[in-house]
Amino acid sequence: MRDRVSRHLFAAVAAVAASTVAPALAQNSCQPGAQPTPRQTEGPFYKSGAPQRADLVEPGMSGQAIEMSGAVFTRACRPVADARIDVWQADAKGEYDNRGYRLRGYVLTDAQGRYRFRTVVPASYEGRTSHIHVKVTSPGGGTLTTQLYFPDDPLNRSDRIFRRELVVSISKANGALTGRFDFVVE
Ligand SMILES: [Fe+2]
Repeated sequence: MRDRVSRHLFAAVAAVAASTVAPALAQNSCQPGAQPTPRQTEGPFYKSGAPQRADLVEPGMSGQAIEMSGAVFTRACRPVADARIDVWQADAKGEYDNRGYRLRGYVLTDAQGRYRFRTVVPASYEGRTSHIHVKVTSPGGGTLTTQLYFPDDPLNRSDRIFRRELVVSISKANGALTGRFDFVVE
């Protein structure tokens, strides 16, 4: 009897746990038949040859640090392992490093298609709201070039190429800023 009660109790607790976890998973996971992540212009500041590194923050660099993560999926929601996530962006003053590789680098997705890198929130610059440029290259060779945006930049409204589908999910825990974005590639 007692065993049966505790089994029921366990099942009830598990059901509550599942119901509280499910919305968070749904929010950040791929839905079968998902639309591919929109492509955007490369812009004038891309530079090949950036180093592989998960931490773009360097000593003395100003700006708010942010931990970016997410995953790369196919439209059928299969994770894409070994995809190359190439990132370049302006610094906290809205400036690109066009001589060296400051705030430029790439990471590879793991077996579950996940990526992670640390950077600073870029500032807006003339005519543009704050954004991070990204190239996602699948092992098969296809490349998705796009840009990621931040939800609370007031310039989002006036930026001519801003797209809501490319806004990162931001959360703050213990003072640390995290951003999440899942890519869906063709
Ligand atoms: Fe840019």
